[in-house]
Amino acid sequence: MPNLKALVLSGGRGTRLRPLTFTLAKQLIPLANKPVLGYVLDQIAQTGINQIGIIIAPETGHYVKEYIKDGSEWNFNVTYIPQEPLGLAHAVKTAKNFLGADDFIMCLGDNLQGQGLTTFVQKFTKEKMDALILLKHVDDPTKFGVATLDEKANIVKLVEKPKKPSSNLAIVGTYLFSSNIFDAIDTIKPSWRGELEITDAIQKMINMGFNVKAEILNTWWLDTGKKDDILTANAKILDEYTKCDIKGTVQESKIEGRVTIQENTKVVNSTIRGPCAIGVNCIIENSFIGPYTSVGNGTKIVDSAIEYSVILENAQITCVDRLEESLIGKNAKVTKNQRNGCLKLHVGDYSEVEI
Ligand code: DAU
Repeated sequence: MPNLKALVLSGGRGTRLRPLTFTLAKQLIPLANKPVLGYVLDQIAQTGINQIGIIIAPETGHYVKEYIKDGSEWNFNVTYIPQEPLGLAHAVKTAKNFLGADDFIMCLGDNLQGQGLTTFVQKFTKEKMDALILLKHVDDPTKFGVATLDEKANIVKLVEKPKKPSSNLAIVGTYLFSSNIFDAIDTIKPSWRGELEITDAIQKMINMGFNVKAEILNTWWLDTGKKDDILTANAKILDEYTKCDIKGTVQESKIEGRVTIQENTKVVNSTIRGPCAIGVNCIIENSFIGPYTSVGNGTKIVDSAIEYSVILENAQITCVDRLEESLIGKNAKVTKNQRNGCLKLHVGDYSEVEI
């Protein structure tokens, strides 16, 4: 078992994912019916680390606690650390008592990458680093922290969300640190967005002469911060992990490709085309559920066709000819109005409707 701790950032405001984040922490948005945070915790558990601190926010912390509980599902010894969302470096500072003088891996609870964590933990420990960051080539680096490397792959410069990025290497939400990160954090000031940026703290570590290294990720990376990111992430996870596993009942229906249908779900007179995940206690009747769709527990879909979408728990979708690229929240109802094509909407705050 490595002599490291883990710090998972599950706080923040989640403003870009309203209205879903009014009743859910953004790290709990399900991909293939399992919270993205669950996949992050699985990857930490695979490294053998079991001392884990979870940063939580005042508004959504109770949802995170309800999900992780005492951490025994992952064999973790969990410490919850409440934090006002004042930046990633602020979160590390807030966790100082928990982290003490130990090395640690820090994961963002809404970021997932396909390579797992073990090789990075081993490399960091073996080479006695002070920081190891992961980078990934992306199309639009302006949304991320951005790194510039020299020809020997040493980090020259790190900038948070630059307007004119000097490379397309984004900083991925997985970091390894020694306790020297605290000295660097003590010297930084809040950025233009009012946050203590971890990117600035790592730059300080470089300036202070600490051993800071970067690795370029050679696999997929998902950041589930916005609606379209969630649909892409859901599709990726369905592609990677869905197995054919039918536990519910299927009558006069076609199941094509890799489809998971959980207990007590009834599929009647419908076509389900994978990869696709359907939760427990659902009813799917006279409908088509197309590839890259996840349907949460207790949802009812009747006389409808749905593709490339994420439907959360206890939603009801009736008589909707074609629903695509949609994210439908818990207990939401979507129905076709049969009379003269008029629209009747009852839409929550910060919702988006495209007609
Ligand atoms: O997604 C990778 C990017 O994550 C990096 O490229 C950036 O360098 C890094 O600053 C970060 O940028 P974001 O603006 O995307 O971070 P966000 O505010 O979305 O927060 C990331 C996670 O950390 C999210 O799960 C919420 C949590 N968080 C965030 C803040 C600001 C906290 O727990 N506490 C906080 O104070």
